[in-house]
Amino acid sequence: MEILRHVVVLVHLIGFAVLFGTWVNEAVHRRIRFTQLMNWGLLIAAVAGIILAAPFGIEWELNYVKLGVKLVILLVIGALLGIGMARQRRTDSLSPALFWSVGALTFANAAIAVLWR
Ligand code: HEM
Repeated sequence: MEILRHVVVLVHLIGFAVLFGTWVNEAVHRRIRFTQLMNWGLLIAAVAGIILAAPFGIEWELNYVKLGVKLVILLVIGALLGIGMARQRRTDSLSPALFWSVGALTFANAAIAVLWR
């Protein structure tokens, strides 16, 4: 059970890496836009994160306040990506506020995961 949990953590981290990595790639190339890979990264992180919210393969209590905060932030990121993608398709441009919010919230969720014990 413990090894299974570690595998799911690995998948969760891959989802985070795909989402944040593709976002950073657009940011450093000064491209204010969302890409389909960001949606995939978020989906992978979400599915693995929800599985990890079940207390299997551990002997300690999970911090459900922390997980609830992470879930709310993930839903906000999903909403911003959805709204942004739709506007991008219609107008071929994306508001910088939407773009930077997704990067900041993704970073915030990783920081919460690592720093809030
Ligand atoms: C964009 C959204 C998310 C990001 C960027 C993210 C990021 C991370 C990172 C970097 C870790 C590794 C931390 C460590 O091992 O110390 C982690 C672990 C974990 N995440 Fe997430 N996460 C996200 C969403 C979620 C959601 C929605 C849930 C569940 C509701 C969740 C549940 C967990 C759990 C249970 C762990 C294992 C370590 C722990 O108990 O804190 N994550 N996450």
